[in-house]
Amino acid sequence: EKSGYDTFMEKEINDQPHAVADTLLGRTDAEGNLTLDELHIDVEELRAVTKIVIVACGTAAYAGMVAKYAIEHWTRIPVEVELAHEFRYRDPVIDERTLVVSISQSGETMDTLMAVRHAKELGARTVSICNTHGSTIPRESDAVLYTHAGPEIAVASTKAFLAQITASYILGLYLASLRGTSYGRDAAEVMAELQGIPAQIETVLAGMDRVKEIAYYMADSRSVLFLGRHVGYPVAMEGALKLKELAYIHAEGFAAGELKHGPIALIEPGQPVFVIVPSPGSEHGLHDKVVSNIQEIRARGARTLVIAEEGDEDVVPFADEVIRVPHTSPLLAPLLTVVPLQVFALHLSTAKGLDVDQPRNLAKSVTVE
Ligand code: M6R
Repeated sequence: EKSGYDTFMEKEINDQPHAVADTLLGRTDAEGNLTLDELHIDVEELRAVTKIVIVACGTAAYAGMVAKYAIEHWTRIPVEVELAHEFRYRDPVIDERTLVVSISQSGETMDTLMAVRHAKELGARTVSICNTHGSTIPRESDAVLYTHAGPEIAVASTKAFLAQITASYILGLYLASLRGTSYGRDAAEVMAELQGIPAQIETVLAGMDRVKEIAYYMADSRSVLFLGRHVGYPVAMEGALKLKELAYIHAEGFAAGELKHGPIALIEPGQPVFVIVPSPGSEHGLHDKVVSNIQEIRARGARTLVIAEEGDEDVVPFADEVIRVPHTSPLLAPLLTVVPLQVFALHLSTAKGLDVDQPRNLAKSVTVE
């Protein structure tokens, strides 16, 4: 069942090109237009949506945070992302023109289910992005968009994360095309780029030997920090979560812009810091700002482990290690940049002799509140 891999997690990381490709499958017509008839929500209702609220937990919530950047950009509909267990116990401003999108691999996460029920009570339309057919959350939602990652067995979520980002992008592009919001690029163009992502993930996976070596020599680390900006920020938090749950190492993800507002005080000689660098071509000059951050922390002694696009030479003078990913447009980058962080956590856990697939104190699906 592990197809020759030592652990389910390793198999699932290597399944990721398929998880993305299969989630894209069958969602466009011959002309490349999105066809989401499977949603079964009235098109007029979708056109009338004034706000989207994404509810999820853990890795699924980080997928939601990534999706926020893309969905707002494409649709101009405001998107909030909230941890399901927080959403449920406050007094959210929701009405029948709010679309509440839950994201869950298992479809059984009690916190997320309770949030969906709460949203329905408040009159919202509910869509579930889910990996498990016939599970409770999609059954209780008005509509479902399945991710086709295949069964995920390892407790740490990997391929479901990529499939969740893919599915939420499909939803965002569909809403944008329904509403005629041609802000940014048109849906067919982004879908075409998404079709190329599986091959690019293969490229990333083929270059992971050095990441494994780094993980082995970092096995004694007591703390690892992760910095990212824009869509790289949730990726940083996801990288930290993988390391906490798999290797039991204190890890924290920050928005790189936040460094000077506090976290830079943590930097001392030898502190390992992963930095996810935006594409040099990204808008707003974010690439250069993140390169400056690398320079700042390096000057204070940090060991910088830099994830940067092929050909980005600006990072080289300030990087102890450079991990390369192929070029993508900025919003699609998380589908590549998260992969080395998953691989790092996997090998660090293995290096410490831990149970990769069943980390202590955790269950695959959290069916209690
Ligand atoms: O099944 P779900 O996607 O609803 O699960 C949500 C979280 O419990 C899950 O992502 C958890 O954070 C993973 N262990 C992360 O690797």
